[in-house]
Amino acid sequence: MKGIVFTGFLEMVEDTFGLETVDHIIEHSNLESNGVYTAVGTYDFGEMLQLVTNLSEKVNTPVNDLLYVYGVYFFDTLVRNHPEIFKKFSHPISLLSSIEDHIHVHVRKIYPGAELPTFEVLHEDDKSITMVYTSSRGLYRFAHGLMQKTFEYYKREATIQVEKLEEDGTRVKFIASYNE
Ligand code: HEM
Repeated sequence: MKGIVFTGFLEMVEDTFGLETVDHIIEHSNLESNGVYTAVGTYDFGEMLQLVTNLSEKVNTPVNDLLYVYGVYFFDTLVRNHPEIFKKFSHPISLLSSIEDHIHVHVRKIYPGAELPTFEVLHEDDKSITMVYTSSRGLYRFAHGLMQKTFEYYKREATIQVEKLEEDGTRVKFIASYNE
């Protein structure tokens, strides 16, 4: 997993729960990196699991709820770091339908070694998109937060239905439609 995901995560924890909580979750994890990350470095996904699990215990909030909050937060990190990508799209649905064939393809070039999910678009029209998330990491709630924020970024309100195709969240169908 790329360092930008870790640095963004620790920033979110600091902003939301304070520096003391950042220290707590790092101290309670067994991290090869010692909790020191650079944006383009690559680190074990297990480190993220430990950090988010320890955070969940510390703040008494389910891991999946924290991953959603983190997705919402990470969207702004992506916009700040890669404004050029967002300028290419004028609608949230066109952005979402381009993740697989354009955005994450580009991401692979700028972040060698990135472990990315796949998004298969099953249906797309002016007002809705249905796509299937697949990843062994099961970060579908993180994807959900990113998606919700994509609509907000383009000043659209949308309802996103989440349907697990695998119980462990490694395959999940999202149906997102504008509220009108
Ligand atoms: C400009 C837009 C975007 C950029 C630059 C970007 C970049 C990245 C990067 C660097 C990672 C980390 C890869 C790793 O840790 O090895 C990642 C992972 C991920 N991205 Fe994107 N991304 C973008 C948009 C989106 C959007 C809109 C979604 C919404 C669904 C999304 C869904 C995900 C998910 C769910 C992961 C976690 C990996 C997994 O689930 O296996 N990305 N992305």
